[in-house]
Parts: sequence; C-alpha cells; structure tokens
Amino acid sequence: AIITLRQLLDHAAEEGYGVPAFNINNMEQGLAILRAADACNAPVILQASRGARSYAGDIMLRHMVQALAEMYPHIPICLHQDHGNNEATCLSAIRHGFTSVMMDGSLEADMKTPASYAYNVEITERVARMAHWVGASVEGELGVLGSLETGEAAKEDGSGAEGKLSKEDLLTDPDQAAEFVARTKVDALAIACGTSHGAYKFSRKPDGEILAMKRIEEIHARIPSVHLVMHGSSSVPQYLQDLINEYGGEMPQTYGVPVEEIEKGIRTGVRKVNIDTDCRMALTGQFRKVAQEKPREFDPRKFLIPAMDEMEKLCKDRFERFGTAGNA
Ligand code: G3H
Ligand code: 13P
Ligand code: NA
Ligand code: ZN
Repeated sequence: AIITLRQLLDHAAEEGYGVPAFNINNMEQGLAILRAADACNAPVILQASRGARSYAGDIMLRHMVQALAEMYPHIPICLHQDHGNNEATCLSAIRHGFTSVMMDGSLEADMKTPASYAYNVEITERVARMAHWVGASVEGELGVLGSLETGEAAKEDGSGAEGKLSKEDLLTDPDQAAEFVARTKVDALAIACGTSHGAYKFSRKPDGEILAMKRIEEIHARIPSVHLVMHGSSSVPQYLQDLINEYGGEMPQTYGVPVEEIEKGIRTGVRKVNIDTDCRMALTGQFRKVAQEKPREFDPRKFLIPAMDEMEKLCKDRFERFGTAGNA
C-alpha cells in the first residue's frame, strides 16, 4: 500500500529503526528496491528528484510506483519528492500521487545559493500548510550540506560552490532547529552534519572532525518528536569503487559515510537515510563488467539483470543494517 512519510516514520520511531530512502528514476531501480524490500519484509521510501521527474515523466513515475504497490501489496511504500525547490514542484508532485514532499528551503529556488533563515521558514511553512490540507507529509531542511574538510558547500562532481562557509554554517544549530520545526510544522527535518551529495564526500575515512554525528544527538534531544533525515548517506563502498575501476572506470579514491556511522545516527534519532549514489554505482559497476567481459553483447537485458541484482544486494544490506527488515 502507498502510505505517507509520517505514517512510515512514526512506526520507525516507535520501533527504533531507520528507513533508507532510495532514489528512483526507472523501472529497474524500482524492481531492485522492491525485490529487496520483499526479501527483507521492509517498508520503503521511493524518492524522485526533479531530475527523475523530467527523466521518466510524472505520469510514468506515478504508474510505475502504483504497479510496484500492486506487485508487492504487503509492502508499505512512500513516494517522496526529493529536494523540492519551490511551491510548484511540491504541489505538482502531490497532484501526481506523491504522498510526501521535501521543501528544501536551505537553498534559494535555484538550488545553488544558501538561503536566509527567514526565506527558509517562510516557504517551508507555506508548503507544509498546503501539503497538510491534502494529507501529504513534509520534510524541511536546515543547514547546508557541505564539507567540513574544505568549508565548501560541495557539488556532486566534487568541486566546491563559491565562497567558504564556516563550520557553524555547515552544521544545523539545535536551538534554531527547534524553532524551525515549531514554526513550519514539518514532519521530518533534514539536518547537516558534514555529509554532501555524490561520491566525493571525504578524502579520508571520516572521523568526528569531519562527520559530526554528535550534532544529530544534540538536535534529537531538542526535538525528539520530529523525524531526522540524513542526506548524502551513501557509503561509497570500496568494493563498488573497485568493481567500476577494474572494468575501465576512473573514479578517484574516495570515502563515503560508513554504515556503522549511520547505525549510530539511527540510535540517536535518524529515521530517513537518503541513498542514491551507492545504487548508481552498483548499476554502473555491472554495466561496465558486462561491457568489458562480453563485448559482443547488445541485449540491454544482459546488462540490466546483473545490474539489478547488484543493486538489490545493496538495498538488502541497508534494510538489514538499518533495522528496517521485518517491519513491513
Ligand atoms: O540530491 C540528489 C539526488 O542524488 C538526486 O540526484 O538530481 O541527479 O536526480 P539528481
Ligand atoms: P548520496 O549522493 O550520498 O546517495 O545522497 C543522496 C541524497 O541525499 C538524495 O537526496
Ligand atoms: Na528528500
Ligand atoms: Zn539530498
């Protein structure tokens, strides 16, 4: 059944587990996630970015997710807008069957410029009011995702945005988080703790200096009833870097968020864990392997079947380690 983020995360909070939110752009990703969820008996969050919506089309996405719900009727599914940039994105998502939206007011509508606190409160409050009228859930974001190593609001290609930010700009302030939630009435809050999107998060295995898991505990203590969200939570596992590079890839050595750090976060209030990059790497690693090992192959299914299997394996691992397994 398709349910809201609020329903899904309220149960996660009661039982003390976390839920991975996997990004979805196509049928193969949807099948891989739901096969894993079915095998683990886990509830799932499927999230679509603006890029995913324009890639697949809103009508295709809606029917795809409805098809998955019909194929796996016993699995609770939430369809969530990832990084909505304004009211239009969020409301059109709800109209297309999304049961939850992220209004990311931490950045201006161009999604590049860090926004003022006043702008963030104002637009998030407005979206939350409208979404709640029609029964959809809302995630807000306070703080800027970026690197505590470089002081840069990181972009996905590993280069930094213009202008350095201080450590305090890059981390969510617990008192401000409490005020933000009281004013906006969001169901879930994305916080900044040193992670960033994409594969190039850290230049070494992160410690408490560059991955501030302690901050999550402090925020949770201030607002225990709001569900905390960790963006940029791919682990960028070494075995997938190796797979890609063994078959012709040239990804420079990089480090993601260790799964044990996420497990720690879940023990201190993290309920939604956003993962896109790891799934992309699982698929791409297998595409490269098939392309190199079978250069005469041109049936796309021969690429997509091992790719889906690799992604399913990754999703299963996260359902198990986050405690999602067994909670459908
Ligand atoms: O927030 C970033 C997600 O990984 C989605 O990425 O905008 O390329 O679909 P995308
Ligand atoms: P990753 O790039 O670490 O997978 O993060 C995805 C994300 O936060 C989507 O909102
Ligand atoms: Na999101
Ligand atoms: Zn994100």
